Amino acid sequence: MPTIDFQGASVTYDGTTVLEPLTARLTERRIGIIGSNGSGKSTTVRMINGLIEPSTGQVLYDDLSPAKHGRDIRKRVGFVFSDAESQIVMPRVVDDVAFSLRRFKLPRNEVRSRVDDALARFGLSHLAENSPHTLSGGEKQMLALASVLVIEPDTIIADEPTTLLDLRNRRRIVRELTSLDQQLIVVTHDLDMLRDFERVLVIDEGRLAYDGTPSDAIAFYTDLMDAKP
Ligand SMILES: Nc1ncnc2c1ncn2[C@@H]1O[C@H](COP(=O)(O)OP(=O)(O)OP(=O)(O)O)[C@@H](O)[C@H]1O
Ligand SMILES: [Mg+2]
Repeated sequence: MPTIDFQGASVTYDGTTVLEPLTARLTERRIGIIGSNGSGKSTTVRMINGLIEPSTGQVLYDDLSPAKHGRDIRKRVGFVFSDAESQIVMPRVVDDVAFSLRRFKLPRNEVRSRVDDALARFGLSHLAENSPHTLSGGEKQMLALASVLVIEPDTIIADEPTTLLDLRNRRRIVRELTSLDQQLIVVTHDLDMLRDFERVLVIDEGRLAYDGTPSDAIAFYTDLMDAKP
């Protein structure tokens, strides 16, 4: 699996530190990140592919730095945002998925077959010609995942992939994500999804508060919330 190395990486905005220096090396295949709203989870994962630059320290992906090797990292790390709407770039669903493949310079028929496979896998084939903006919230979330998985990244980062989803689509996303061969990092409030993960980090008030097995981390997080007013 790839190694994601947080080396004293912190994030400060206008003098306010939202993430204290974080040091952790992630090498597992299934990693969960949990914690309260505003605790710093999205900030943490966004540093991995350079969406956010650390104010101190650095984050390396297999020894590559997003500052120097951003293009290489973005080919290997797929990022699914919680706001699926913001991930839409093209006027038709089919083009939106194909757009992800543009930098790989593949032959047209190869693009077509990979796109068709991705749409089928997420139950979107019948919507291929539609405008992404007309999809329902859940369908947009499935599209966002299809657009990321079509590039077959080595690591998939999903920031709250099951928000907005009905039970069927939640199960579908959880099934798709948990059956991936690739490394998966999930930020979620859906604690159940993490039961079989290898490692779960709890972020609290900008600090790594716990790092351990899912059951221990979820117990820690629950106790932490019970202790807060
Ligand atoms: N550009 C910015 N400028 C100032 N503060 C910011 C900026 N981006 C994020 N923050 C602050 O950083 C903190 C952490 O935000 P972050 O998005 O990482 O939280 P989160 O743990 O992902 O929360 P949620 O569960 O609600 O998604 C929040 O208090 C947020 O207001
Ligand atoms: Mg977030």
